[in-house]
Amino acid sequence: MNVGIIGCGAISNQYMIGLNKNKKVLQVLACADLDSKKSELFSKEHNISKFSVDELLENNDIDLIINLTPPSSHFEISLKSLENGKHVFSEKPISLSIEEGKELFSSMKKNNVYLFAAPDTYLGPAFKKGVEILNSNKIGQIISGSASFVSHGVEGWHPNPEFYYKKGGGPLFDMGPYYLTALVKLLGPVTQVVSYSEKNFNKRKVENAEVKYKEINVEIDTHYLALLKFKSGVVVDFHVSFDIWKPYDPKLEIYGENTSLKLADPNNYDGEISMFNKETYQWENIYSSKDSENNYYRGLGVVEMVNSIKQNNITEEELFLPFHVLDIMCTLESYDLNGNWANITQQF
Ligand SMILES: NC(=O)c1ccc[n+]([C@@H]2O[C@H](COP(=O)([O-])OP(=O)(O)OC[C@H]3O[C@@H](n4cnc5c(N)ncnc54)[C@H](O)[C@@H]3O)[C@@H](O)[C@H]2O)c1
Repeated sequence: MNVGIIGCGAISNQYMIGLNKNKKVLQVLACADLDSKKSELFSKEHNISKFSVDELLENNDIDLIINLTPPSSHFEISLKSLENGKHVFSEKPISLSIEEGKELFSSMKKNNVYLFAAPDTYLGPAFKKGVEILNSNKIGQIISGSASFVSHGVEGWHPNPEFYYKKGGGPLFDMGPYYLTALVKLLGPVTQVVSYSEKNFNKRKVENAEVKYKEINVEIDTHYLALLKFKSGVVVDFHVSFDIWKPYDPKLEIYGENTSLKLADPNNYDGEISMFNKETYQWENIYSSKDSENNYYRGLGVVEMVNSIKQNNITEEELFLPFHVLDIMCTLESYDLNGNWANITQQF
């Protein structure tokens, strides 16, 4: 399958490392970016063609678009791609609202093409190992779980941090998809949520000297504490924040009737897994990352998508996953802090 990349920014080179390892499955032929200097540089670096966005979308040689634009452009680029009869793999989030999500979903059906989205870290070895352990029943019936990612945002390192503080950014839409996708894959669909959210900093000081602007006005909540109730009845606490100065390690833990399991960080493709030993009262490492090239699995989701399309075996679960995650995030985002359970209405 022939692939075109739209958005030649910070993450695009990491994608190329992963995609270039799978040339038997797909070939990246071309790229485009609003900023033609960026697509020029990217095309030279990877020896691929450079087009304008519209030219790439209309190019009959391209079967699949990888959408690596900022979140605010995901909907527009993905919709245009679908309308041009191209499959899409989009960076997360798949879109910024339920209405946009519905439009994408119906366009996918209408044009007989597929739209998948990041994160794809659940295809990495650590997550697969985690599922194997959970299925082995070692931890017993699941009672609860806990997921969190807290930091003080991205303005210290990102080359263009502004979009992280506008609608579609923030910890919920930026980091939430990793933890929510992992939880849904492990525990099934979410049916209800309770949430608390706030914005503790109205402005962000840009610390990366290469960024032209020095300050960002924060337009969204940057601190979320929520409870997620799954269809199984299990309730998990979920914490994502860009407001915490001293971050603790990202966390994904599942608590069973026999013991507790600490899974690898779903922001990565590989990592450590530990299980609590009740006899020694210690956490014990039961799996470690074997591959030092941990982050170079990026693109795994695109490879999996192409294989599934070729084999015509895409499951409903796969198809709905990023839309269900969008449903959860939008419900958390619009939660009116009344303390009552809000239903996830499964709108897709
Ligand atoms: N940077 C990371 O570490 C990282 C990690 C995982 C996922 N992501 C996701 O990848 C996506 C891109 O992030 P990034 O860090 O590469 O951002 P970036 O700002 O570095 O790059 C985005 C690129 O898209 C281009 N662009 C913007 N709007 C466009 C449009 N309408 N049409 C064509 N091109 C357009 C910009 O000119 C820019 O070159 C985001 O969704 C982000 O959440 C980033």
